[in-house]
Amino acid sequence: MEAKQISASKDPSQRVRVRVPAKVNLALCVGSLADDGYHPLGTVFHALSLFDEVIATPGEPGTVVLTMSGEGLEDVPADETNLAVRAARLLAQRHGSPDLGVRLHLKKTIPVAGGMAGGSADAAGALLACAMLWDLDTIPDDLHELAAELGSDVPFPLMGGNAIGRGHGDQLVPLLGRGTYHWVLALAHEGLSTPAVFRRFDEMAARPDAAPASTEIPCAVAEALAKADPQALGKALRNDLQAAALDLRPELAQILQAGLDAGALGAMVSGSGPTCAFLAGSESAAMDLSAALAKLPQVRATRRATGPVPGATVLG
Ligand code: C5P
Repeated sequence: MEAKQISASKDPSQRVRVRVPAKVNLALCVGSLADDGYHPLGTVFHALSLFDEVIATPGEPGTVVLTMSGEGLEDVPADETNLAVRAARLLAQRHGSPDLGVRLHLKKTIPVAGGMAGGSADAAGALLACAMLWDLDTIPDDLHELAAELGSDVPFPLMGGNAIGRGHGDQLVPLLGRGTYHWVLALAHEGLSTPAVFRRFDEMAARPDAAPASTEIPCAVAEALAKADPQALGKALRNDLQAAALDLRPELAQILQAGLDAGALGAMVSGSGPTCAFLAGSESAAMDLSAALAKLPQVRATRRATGPVPGATVLG
């Protein structure tokens, strides 16, 4: 597909600002490792009001220049391997021209390497911001296709809300639900690598006493969302990667228990961790829970968020 208009202007006032949400998986059901090196998933994504911002301004032709602000940046590559840079390059190559250039700035709030898909959110935001900046003739399906190529968790932040994910987590169907849910997130001192958690999952699944791996999503999650019932949702939360994350980071079990003792309706490791996500019954319960968790030595910081929220949104 041709670019509608390839602007040579470097006027930085032509700026596009996109806000992208973090996610938690309300259910993360993991099948056995397949021949492609990935695990088939059945998952329920839920977008949270914890956002990164991607700001795109015109750049020198053929260049993608990345700057970042926020916490934990020492663990984020600032070169061509950054997923947001790869997203901009892929978009230019497939739907624009190699002459397109951009300056990308990432304002990061989503915890880095936290199991909340922050890097994937940035890539999703970069796709949308660059498509707008370069005025490309792309439709949402085009961006979704590129997103899935970039990583399993990249398509969901484009969509937001609640969604069922299958395949590697990239085949999405929106899930209708009611209600707004209050969450507290307990951030850990150090990140966890997603491939390392999946590897530990495989080791644990190979044990003779292991339960069979299954991608079947329990009905209880969708039922709780349909009824807007936070108590039921708290009980229904499920993460098949949690045992592997706890095996790698035993202190996370203490955080989960402390949150339940402090009144959380449900507690789980978010995605591949190490962030722990707690469902609270109300905004004030979330404030109390957040204060209790913030006192734990195993917790670096806490954040409060609500969900579901919309996917990638252009702010101006
Ligand atoms: O797709 P993405 O690059 O985000 O995945 C990172 C790594 O996580 C993969 O290389 C793979 O080791 C693991 N993974 C997996 N099964 C999935 C998604 C990711 O094993 N469904």
